[in-house]
This record gives sequence, structure tokens and C-alpha cells, in this order.
Amino acid sequence: MSKVADLFVSLEYGPAPESPRPAEEWLERRGRSFGHFVGGEWSAAADGPRFDAVNPADGQVLATLRQGDASDVDRAVQAARAAQPEWWALGPHGRARYLYALARGIQRHARLFAVLESLDNGKPIRESRDLDIPLVARHFYHHAGWAQLMEEALPGHEPVGVVGQIIPWNFPLLMLAWKIAPALATGNTVVLKPAEFTSLTALLFAETCQGADLPPGVVNVVTGDGTTGAAVVAHPGVDKIAFTGSTEVGRIIRKATAGTGKRLSLELGGKSPFIVFEDADLDSVVEGVVDAIWFNQGQVCCAGSRILVQEGVAEALERKLRARMEALRMGDPLDKSIDMGAIVAAVQLERIGSLVEQGRAEGAEIWQPSWSVPREGWFYPPTMCTNVAPSSALAQVEVFGPVVVVMTFRTPSEAVAMANDTRYGLAASIWTENVNLALDVAPKVKAGTVWVNCTNLFDAASGFGGYRESGFGREGGEEGLWEYVRPSWAARAGEADEPTPNRASDDHALGGDAPARPVPPIDRTAKLYIGGRQARPDGDASLPVFGADGARIAEVGRGTRKDVRNAVEAARAAQEGWSARTAHNRAQVLYYLAENLEARAAELSGRLGALSGRPSDAAAEVEATIARLFTYAAWADKWEGRVHSTPFRNVTLAMKEPVGVLGVVCPARHPLLGFVSCVAPAVAVGNTVVAVPSEYGPFLATDLYQVLDTSDVPAGVVNIVTGLRSELVPTLAAHDDVDGIWFFGPRAGCAEVERASAGNMKRTWVSHGRARDWMSPQQGQGEEFLREATQVKNIWVPYGA
Ligand code: NAI
Repeated sequence: MSKVADLFVSLEYGPAPESPRPAEEWLERRGRSFGHFVGGEWSAAADGPRFDAVNPADGQVLATLRQGDASDVDRAVQAARAAQPEWWALGPHGRARYLYALARGIQRHARLFAVLESLDNGKPIRESRDLDIPLVARHFYHHAGWAQLMEEALPGHEPVGVVGQIIPWNFPLLMLAWKIAPALATGNTVVLKPAEFTSLTALLFAETCQGADLPPGVVNVVTGDGTTGAAVVAHPGVDKIAFTGSTEVGRIIRKATAGTGKRLSLELGGKSPFIVFEDADLDSVVEGVVDAIWFNQGQVCCAGSRILVQEGVAEALERKLRARMEALRMGDPLDKSIDMGAIVAAVQLERIGSLVEQGRAEGAEIWQPSWSVPREGWFYPPTMCTNVAPSSALAQVEVFGPVVVVMTFRTPSEAVAMANDTRYGLAASIWTENVNLALDVAPKVKAGTVWVNCTNLFDAASGFGGYRESGFGREGGEEGLWEYVRPSWAARAGEADEPTPNRASDDHALGGDAPARPVPPIDRTAKLYIGGRQARPDGDASLPVFGADGARIAEVGRGTRKDVRNAVEAARAAQEGWSARTAHNRAQVLYYLAENLEARAAELSGRLGALSGRPSDAAAEVEATIARLFTYAAWADKWEGRVHSTPFRNVTLAMKEPVGVLGVVCPARHPLLGFVSCVAPAVAVGNTVVAVPSEYGPFLATDLYQVLDTSDVPAGVVNIVTGLRSELVPTLAAHDDVDGIWFFGPRAGCAEVERASAGNMKRTWVSHGRARDWMSPQQGQGEEFLREATQVKNIWVPYGA
């Protein structure tokens, strides 16, 4: 007779299948054929082009769906537009009740949702049942709360309007919840386009909306492929696009929306580092790797796909990983005892295979467990790649499959350098028993989320989103709400009328390029301000500036592309040091600036008066400028992060970090106040800046050189390039080492900036030609500027002895 202990050795797993019945019955009831959900009604399923929803585990067709075209999208946008005013007028409590009802509706049908999700996507039922669907419900509950609290949490703000939302196939219902819950909570209505591989749970969700009596048109679902998505993006009635998917498509959308005034949030790809220091608990690390890269078959935007391990423990970790991989179970997604299910589609399976083969050709050693994958359906085994060069495809390209590379490092600084050596910045995890080391490394890694001794944890209370080419904007938490609102004054702002540079009076006629007569002597030599020094413009050319009376009152340097590049280099060199300063120290520098500016108030006010011809306005502008510097000196050490209440044994630290190197194209009106209104908040929170001052009165910025020099502003923190916007801005907006750009000016310039930003997907904040009253504290300063100058990094630190 065998003993119990022997059973542990010989015991085989049997299948533990979850029944597909609830989902099959639902599909049958719907005749396995679906139309779009628009204005609270289902469009005829039979009309027009269609495509199949396929079970990736066996290739069987689950249902047929409508391929939406531009007219379907148009109907959906119109329905959303018609529903929006009433939805907003319903007020916080009314919307909260609906969101609460949606959460309840999802919970009531949790099993059906989970089974349908696993059938449609191929993910293990264990994951859809225990992770996806509970998190979906949590998102709606959490945002029912935000709906209720909107007036207190976001005072003076209103919804952007109609939101187009395009989601991927890896977490179909979860991505829907991340998009729809905050949009609805803040009073928007939506047109959602699910991914073509996985639309079924979105359609079931539409039924849930009907069940909750959600007013028609508040949620609309149009199915289809990328062309349907493109129609949503292109529709002029859409006020904002929220997209999750590949960086390639994100870039297309960035360009397509450039200059349209549509708000944009992009949740894109990643190549996230998984950093293992030699004091880490290696057995925990192994389970962490399972969650990081084999969860959802690695089809996770924040998958820990690059293991960076400290040299001394690399061999031990690889050995343990091989043993663990051998024990992973792959099979029918509805089997409750499997670890890994199917890959979503044949095309994705091919993509994974070909990237691994490319890696092999580039010299990588590929290791896979000895067991074979199911023959029916689309499966790919867990794969570990070693001997991978940091520049190789496997180390740089998002595979979006169960494929991990292992690379080694020696020191923490080398780990940080390797972690940041991709174009992405979505997530990272850090494994060490030394909390000081973890919290030292976490801020240095360029990523929107950092997990310490854990990985792939998500919650509605914590924002999620990327740095760099992983996109911009956050989903979840208070930080995610800002993506769906705008200040109430901005909703009513008219078109800005920019002052054009004054013209020379006949007596003082002088063209920039073609002097009409000998010029009078110049009292100050116009230069640029780069890296803490006055620099002669590369082209050795200058521009005259005329006063209101046509008299020439200054001459400024005419910067070139090369000057912009030099300024960016200086700003980059200064960035790390400036952001590492304490907030108190940055505040002191700003106070000092204000003090030194005050000492020159009379002179500046005179110069401004000569420019505008309105001396009393000039004095008020100088005064407002000094107050503004005080405002940001005050904010510098109060723009704090928070600790999110995520429902785990966890502190989730939401840290506000600077965007990095910011290009700032200042408003033409108020040449002094506008300049300081943009530069001060940016530097207050640790950015370094390349500023292009007003073309109308650029000398007000150049007059500040000595003030900057004497106020302890470190070299390179503020760089000033005067000249023509048309010559400078294209270079600044396209520069790959600029992390964000602000542009306050005409629509055409805004469009150009947004388009050019697509190269490295830098963050943009542009005025779309709308007026802003820079003298008003409500419009010209405050939290809006600070939010645009920072990005939130969430650092998850679990606790428990
Ligand atoms: P994708 O980015 O093409 O698809 C995502 C969504 O965008 C889908 O709903 C799709 O229909 C829609 N779409 C496609 N082209 C569009 C366009 N021009 N305008 C508007 N919407 C458009 O991703 P795909 O092709 O499914 O997967 C390709 C690769 O993208 C994957 O191998 C993976 O590397 C990456 N990916 C990354 C995701 C992430 O969350 N980071 C999610 C999905 C894919």
C-alpha cells in the first residue's frame, strides 16, 4: 500500500473543466450573430459585411459579428452626442447609481463573463474568473465612487463630451472597464470599438447596460477591425480618443488626431524589465517570473519580458526557472488546473514564432520545456532566451507572447541603465530583500508602474500608464479621471487673437533681413541663453523688435535648428541633477528669482510699456509675474504624491515625477508673464526647459538672463532660444530627446507640434488656438500646469512579515 507521501510524487493532475454551457447558451440565444449596439438598440445582425469570432483553443467559430463602417460609427457618435447633455445633467449621484448597477450586473453574471472571455480569448479560466472579471467589477464600483464625488474631487471641471475608445484583445472586458468606467463617471458618453479577435464580452456588457436601464446612447459598441477603429478616430464629432494597443497604431492615431483638438490618451506597448538583485528570494522570484511573462500567455502590455539578473545568481535562477517551466501546465483554457492557455489568433502565434527565430538567428540560445503543446488550436510554449545582446530584436521588440530574455548585470547602476535601454517605459519590477535599494532604484527606472517584489498587480485605485513610447495618460485612480475632463472655463473659451509683432514706423523702418538704412547703435547684444551662458545664434543673425510707436526697442538673436539642438543637449545634461534637488531647494531658487525680478520691476515694466503702448497694463503684468513665481515656489514642495488604497497588503506610492526635458513655446501675448507662467511650473517640479519666447516681445525673456544668472538657477535648467517659431518649433517638436512639448499659439502650429511629436510619442499640451487669460490666476496658473509638467509613477510595495 502506498503512503500519502508517495502520492505527492506519483499524483497526476486530472482535468478540472469549467463548463462552457452558460456561454454556449447565451450565444445560442443570440443566434450566434450580433449587430452593433447603438442608442440602446441592436442593429440588424444580418446586414452588411461580417467576420467570425473564433475560439483560439480549437479554431471553432463562436459567432459572427458585424464589420462596422463609417456610417455605423457615425450613428454611434450621434447617439452618444444626443445622450451626453442629459447624462451630465443627471448629476453625480444619478451617475453613481448607474455605475453601481453596472458593477452589480457584472457580478451577477460573473461566471458567464469569465467563461465567455476564456472561450473568446483563450486565457485560462482561472485568470478570467479570479482576476479579469473581479477587477472589472471593482473598476465600476470604484468609479461609482468617483461619480458621486466628482464635484468635490474635480471642482470647476466638466466632461470632454463624446469619447471614442479603442481597445485590444488581451484583456477584452478589463480594458473596456478601464475605459468606460472613468468616462461615464465624469459625465462623458462613449463609442467603444472592441478588438476584432475578442468582441463577445463587450457585447455581453452592452446587454448588461440594457439590464441596468442605462439611458440609450450613453454606451455604444461598434464591432469591427482597424478600419472601424480608424473611422472612430477620424469622426469629427468625437472629442477624445482613448486607445490601448500597439505603439505602431498609437502613432498612426497621434498623427490622425493632430490639430483636430481631440484629446488623446494612449496606452501602448512595453518591454518591461524584471530586475533581480542577488539578495532576492529566488523562489519568490521564480513565481514572480511565472506571473510576469506566462500570465495570459505573455500577451500583457506590461509583461516582465526582460529578466535582468545580477551576475552572481544568474545561473541559479536559470536552473530554477527551467525546473519551473517544466512543471507548467498548458491546455484547454476552461480547465481550471492549467497555467497557460491559447494564443489569441494564428497571426499572433506566427508573430511570436518568427521573432523567436529571428532571436535564434541573432545568436540567442532558446530553451523550452520538454513537453509538447496541444496540437489543436494556437499554442506556444513558455520560452526562455539567453545569450541575448541588449540591442537584439528579442531584447528590444515587444513579442507579446510567453517569451522572456535573461540578461545579466553587475551593479545597481548598470541594472538601471539596462532597464532604461528601450524606447518603452510602461512597467518594471524590482526584486531584492533590501527596501533601501528597491526604493533607490524605483525612481530611476523610466516606467509608469514599478512593482517591488511583486508583479502584474492592478487596481482601480491606482493609475496605470506609460512613459516614453509606451504612451501618455493614466487609467485608474484620481490621475485617470483628469483624462476625461477639462476646466469649465476652457469649454467656453473663444479663439485667441495673437498680437503680431509691431511694425516699424517709417522713421525707424528696418527689416530683419533687408535693412533699409543704417541702424542706430544697439545697447544690448542679442544672444540666446543655452547651458547657463549667453550664446551667439548659430546663423549670426538677429531680429529687430519694435515698440508700439514703431521705434526699434530691441534686437534678439534669430535661433536656428542647431541652436535648438544645443539647447536640448544642455537641458538633458542638467535634467538629472535638477530633478534630484529637493523640492525645498527648487522653491528657494524660484523665490530668489522673484526677488531679483522685483529689483528690476521698474525697468521691465518700462520695456513692456514701450512694447504695448499701455504702461499701466505693463506694471500690472510685472506684478503678476512676480506673484506667479511665488505661486510656483509655493507649489514646488506641495505638489505631492499620494498613497493609494489598493486592496492588497500593499502601499502603492503614487509619485509625481517631472516629464523630463520640456519644450515650451510661450504665448505671444504677455511676453513676460506668459514666459514665466510656462517656465516656472515646469522647473518647479524638476523639468529642464527649452523655451521659445513670444515673437511679439522676445526681449522680455532675454532681459531675464542676468536675473537667471544671479538667482542660482543651475546651468541648463532654463534655456532660451529666440527667433521665429516657424524656424524653431519643428525641430523642437520632432526632437527625440525632448520628452514633452507645450505650445500656446495658433491652430496650425498646434497641429504641426502634435504631428511632429509622433516620432518619440512625446507628451504634448497645445492650446488649439483657444484664448487663455494669462492674467487670471484661474486660467494662467495652478494645478493644470503642474499636472501637465509631471507624470505619475505608481510604486507597489507589499508588506507582511
Ligand atoms: P493593434 O494595435 O493593431 O490593435 C489594437 C486595437 O486597435 C484593435 O481594436 C484594432 O482593431 C485597433 N486598430 C488597428 N488599427 C487601427 C487604426 N489604424 N486606427 C484605429 N484603430 C486601429 O494590435 P494588434 O494588431 O492586435 O497586435 C499587434 C501587436 O501589437 C501585438 O503583437 C503586440 O505586440 C501589440 N499589442 C500591444 C498591446 C498592448 O496593450 N500594449 C495590445 C495589443 C497588441
